[in-house]
Amino acid sequence: MSAKPAAVIIGSDHAAFPLKEAVKKHIGQMGIEVKDVGTFSAASVDYPDYGIQVAGAVSSGEFQRGILLCGTGLGMSMVANRFPGVRAALCADIFSARMSRLHNDANILVLGGRVIGEALALELVKTFLETAFEGGRHQARLDKFDRILPV
Ligand code: RB5
Repeated sequence: MSAKPAAVIIGSDHAAFPLKEAVKKHIGQMGIEVKDVGTFSAASVDYPDYGIQVAGAVSSGEFQRGILLCGTGLGMSMVANRFPGVRAALCADIFSARMSRLHNDANILVLGGRVIGEALALELVKTFLETAFEGGRHQARLDKFDRILPV
């Protein structure tokens, strides 16, 4: 069974704007619909404004999968993982991207536009979008996330 979602929501800040454009094109070529919440230029913006839109849409169930990009990917990860039900994975290698789906059922892939090159980013996206969650013992572990008390 294909793990590929029908649609993906994507957002970035200025630091990863060129990479977002490349990723968006790549996802379209995979036959997946893309909703882009911006940013739409290299002018300086605040990454939480975009992270909140993407993580909010995944958290609410409007989108099954999202992609977030900023300079390092760190800020976007921090924002996204505050949302209930969001499991955002910052990846810079193919093994981690694959495992983020197989074992963690990651629903947002986070990329650092100032850390990785375009060719690797596109491979990471493909891996993230085409790999299915294994379930089983891994689901039991994810269920424990919901028992963490808010601070
Ligand atoms: C923007 O300069 C930069 O701080 C942002 O893209 C990101 O790396 C934050 O984590």
